[in-house]
Amino acid sequence: MLAVDGPSGSGKGTIARQVAELLGWHFLDSGALYRLVGLAALTAEIDFNDTDTLANIALGLEVRFANKGGDERIWLQDREVSAEVRSEAAGAAASQIAPLPAVRAALAQLQRGFRRPPGLVADGRDMGTVVFPDATVKVFLTASLEERARRRYNQLKEKGIDVSLAAVSKDMAARDRRDTERSVAPLKAAADARILDSTDLSPEQVTHQLLDWLKQAGITPKH
Ligand code: DC
Repeated sequence: MLAVDGPSGSGKGTIARQVAELLGWHFLDSGALYRLVGLAALTAEIDFNDTDTLANIALGLEVRFANKGGDERIWLQDREVSAEVRSEAAGAAASQIAPLPAVRAALAQLQRGFRRPPGLVADGRDMGTVVFPDATVKVFLTASLEERARRRYNQLKEKGIDVSLAAVSKDMAARDRRDTERSVAPLKAAADARILDSTDLSPEQVTHQLLDWLKQAGITPKH
């Protein structure tokens, strides 16, 4: 079991997916679960203060992930929701429901169900600290705010979304604050996590470092 945590834009999603693929392990994008609950709340017009209803939605999520050639697809029951989950609206709703303890407890239970042989790579904010405290290897991936904002800005530009770098940076700083300052499961490195700053590293270099740490723990890629 590998836990990869870090702030948004640190590259943890890309890296965690790649490492899971190389190991032939399952992959859990825990942020997508928060986004799905956020989306459900928006769709059904559930108040963000109605914690009981939101926790029940979280417990009952029938979600399925599939990875086709590096392209992650997400289904909720029989409906494909890949694009909706990645929308800014889903991200904003996710960050509103993420501080609710009942929702976090329900999603933690759901997340633990993804741990199956031959192994799991889980990506999020509290994988190593709260959800999988006994993970074999824990990595906390960071990068400077400027670099993370630049990466997100380039991603948005590629998608044809017109934003300014300053706006992306401001938004990211606000999100960092919300994630690190919330009282339940705040974003922080586990005491036994290996911290990696990816500001000046290529994705290949980061993946290589993770594989090295896994090797030290006796875990090697399938090919
Ligand atoms: O990583 P992401 O942008 O998809 O995450 C969406 C939101 O969910 C973000 O505001 C942080 C929150 N989140 C969380 O609180 N705990 C996790 N394990 C994953 C995401």
